[in-house]
Amino acid sequence: MRIIRTKNYDDMSKKAADLIAAVVLLKPNCVLGLATGSSPIGTYNNLVQKYEEGNLDFSTVRSVNLDEYKGLPRTNDQSYYYFMHKNLFSRVNINLDNTHLPNGMEPDSDKACKEYDAVIKSMGGVDMQLLGLGHDGHIGFNEPNNEFDKTTHCVNLTQMTIEANKRFFASIDDVPRQAYTMGVGTIMDAKMVIMVVSGKDKAEILKKAFFGPVTPEVPASILQFHPNFVLVADEDALSLVK
Ligand code: F6R
Repeated sequence: MRIIRTKNYDDMSKKAADLIAAVVLLKPNCVLGLATGSSPIGTYNNLVQKYEEGNLDFSTVRSVNLDEYKGLPRTNDQSYYYFMHKNLFSRVNINLDNTHLPNGMEPDSDKACKEYDAVIKSMGGVDMQLLGLGHDGHIGFNEPNNEFDKTTHCVNLTQMTIEANKRFFASIDDVPRQAYTMGVGTIMDAKMVIMVVSGKDKAEILKKAFFGPVTPEVPASILQFHPNFVLVADEDALSLVK
């Protein structure tokens, strides 16, 4: 595990985008594993800037996203499809046919998950997986559990995650209760993993995940075993780590 300590969110976003840009430069048809949430927004802004300046070409890049709410149509502004289009896909020259998310509108969970795993497999796996860190240590929607889920599966969101996400919805009742998420096994199979973490509110879980025991109770902790894991975190998030 390598740690890149940054001054703040902006600095974290810039450095994470530099790392991702390097992946794209080295392999123009790479498979980027992408995340939603507040942590990667600045990273996406920096990638867009590199594209606008003519320094980054997404024309042959392929992407798979970590997760999607079950039951939210793509047109819903809280769907992860909508998020990705707003924050990245519509702002760079990526071919939309090469972008993939789990199909949240597929009611048959088994079918949705199998189809998504087949897509990831057909692309030859993920070259670089971008992650954020949930307050309970979740990655994707892999919540604390007594085992690590390997492949794409349907999850019931925990109360903590529902609470954390309610700020994006009109009311807590509108927050979906289920989601499809890539499994921890698929994340661990990515050739490189970059996690962006910012803020004092993440300091405790960051310490627990990366300086405590590896356990499915803290799903992110398994990244300690990843051979090419880069944690890009700001001073506030690293404030409890010596
Ligand atoms: C998003 C995702 C989640 C978030 C996590 C942190 O696709 O899979 O695991 O990365 O909930 O969210 P933020 O960045 O909003 O703190």
